Amino acid sequence: MAGQIPQRFIDDLLARVDVVEVVGERVKLKKAGRNYSGLCPFHQEKTPSFTVSADKQFYHCFGCGAHGNGLRFLMEYDKLRFPEAVEQLASRLGMEVPREGADDPRAQARERKRKEGVNLLELSASYFRERLKMPEGQGAREYLERRGLAPEVLEAFGVGYAPDAWESLKRHLGERGIGEPVQVEYGLLVHREESGRTYDRFRDRVMFPIRDIKGRTIGFGGRVLGDAKPKYLNSPETPVFHKGRELYGLYEARQADHRLERVVIVEGYMDVVALAQFGIRNAVATLGTSTSEEHLGRLFRMVSEVVFCFDGDRAGRQAAARALETVLPLMIDGRQARFLFLPEGEDPDTLVRREGTEAFQDRITCASPLSEFLFDQAAAGRDLAHIEERERYASQVLKAVGRLPEGVLRSLMLTELSRRTGVEAKDFSALLARSDAGAGRGPHGGEEAPAVDGAGVPASASFQDEGDAPPLRRSGGVLSLAARALQLLLHEPELVTRLPAEDDWCPEEDPDGLLCREVIRLLRAGGYRSPQVLLAHFHGSPEGERLAALARRELLIPRHARDAELEGLVEHFRQYRRRRSPQEEFDALLARERAGERLSREDRQRLMTLITELHR
Ligand code: GTP
Ligand code: MN
Repeated sequence: MAGQIPQRFIDDLLARVDVVEVVGERVKLKKAGRNYSGLCPFHQEKTPSFTVSADKQFYHCFGCGAHGNGLRFLMEYDKLRFPEAVEQLASRLGMEVPREGADDPRAQARERKRKEGVNLLELSASYFRERLKMPEGQGAREYLERRGLAPEVLEAFGVGYAPDAWESLKRHLGERGIGEPVQVEYGLLVHREESGRTYDRFRDRVMFPIRDIKGRTIGFGGRVLGDAKPKYLNSPETPVFHKGRELYGLYEARQADHRLERVVIVEGYMDVVALAQFGIRNAVATLGTSTSEEHLGRLFRMVSEVVFCFDGDRAGRQAAARALETVLPLMIDGRQARFLFLPEGEDPDTLVRREGTEAFQDRITCASPLSEFLFDQAAAGRDLAHIEERERYASQVLKAVGRLPEGVLRSLMLTELSRRTGVEAKDFSALLARSDAGAGRGPHGGEEAPAVDGAGVPASASFQDEGDAPPLRRSGGVLSLAARALQLLLHEPELVTRLPAEDDWCPEEDPDGLLCREVIRLLRAGGYRSPQVLLAHFHGSPEGERLAALARRELLIPRHARDAELEGLVEHFRQYRRRRSPQEEFDALLARERAGERLSREDRQRLMTLITELHR
């Protein structure tokens, strides 16, 4: 059990963190004299009455009275509990949150052990670094130079060299009073049971220290200078090193940019270091394992976006599929995951050297969003012209969507799936709602396929060209289509220029549709070019509340895809509108007949059915 966080630590934390920075990351602030001001995020307002004081280190809103320090702000704005807010602030500063667990001697012993290990590993890391500069490190220096690595980047990553000897580190540590058992425990010495002999684990290798998020060395990866096997040798599991949990380069990435927002996950040590050399300082690598939920959980606590980078070959595709499975349950609103596939035969190291920084950055920028990758993957090898294949496609996507947490992404995926398969989105939602209730979705709840079985879309799902249901309505967390159009316009008012001149596509029977028309009118009238001003216009009305709720929801559609998204929505509504009420349809058919047109057999039959229906 976690103990109390000491008040001393909280004071220290607040002294180091800048409330202007914390608030400024979430609210647009302008400098106004000694203070900063902006629109209050806790109530709607037209003119800024929210101020942040750098001197006093607090924020205050003259409008609604919201008031507090950096911690309070995080709790209110990010909806965090106190210890979570403390953790978040501390991690920005690379500080570890201490717990008062004086009553738990085992925790203390663990902590002592950790310190001892880190000391020993730190000593070893500096030993390796020194060796690289000595005459014995010449071969390694040449190797690193051949691989195009500059001294600065080797320095930043603390790269070193383990000499070609059996007892060199062992002797070095021994002279500093560190016993062999500890060296064995932390993976630096290998102990031979049969002979009872011990010797250095790492010999004649380039050494990459693996650091935890606070920069403490917790293990090593060592690469041979030539083609010998094994190419890489990692520290074994030790009290401080767990291969499946650590990410190489995360500390260095944070050092390079404390406001790190995005990381690129690559495969190897060399990829991380090479990218850094080319100015791409946000790459991390797993240590020869696939990316685990724990890896991703850690990353997402720090950044909002991860880009997975894979080789373009079959193995790469398979790894991507695994990564997708792992990341799905973690995709709460505000997080993004994207997938980057490299050309066959390349890894980030070779590619960035061949193409340069800009080209590689472009590749990162253009990486597929999770949604796109998911659809592509489900479509691979299927002929979607066939209903059966479409069903399997839908059911594969649906299975993945079932693993997504409740939120915008999930509802977007359903609508998109509906668009692509022609199955009503409400049928999918109903299906998922049912499987949620049954399966009790947790982080791992999705292992069992949701209610959709091998047969794919169940009989209750109607295909759009046959069904006649109204568009998706607003219900628990899932946005109606009208609401989504509204949300898009709210986040990006400029999009109004992309809309057709007539707004008759926008459904009147949906309150969000009506509101959407109103918003479009205002945007067209000009003067309302930012979401804040729009919100201010509706301030204090139910429409204002609704808009604020939509504005708070993260818009997960990438900027470049928003046009198309809005156009898709408009098209959807138009098609729906074309399908008229029975009375309208009846009138239209009758009018045609009265005008002397010869109706087809189907039309006449339809007319008969309609007469019966209308007179029932
Ligand atoms: P270079 O050949 O130095 O460019 O390394 P690379 O990163 O291109 O190597 P590769 O793609 O073969 O391996 C990617 C990652 O897998 C490495 O960074 C290691 O973490 C791991 N790995 C590769 N080979 C071995 C090995 O022989 N043993 C272990 N334990 N891990 C390995
Ligand atoms: Mn490589």
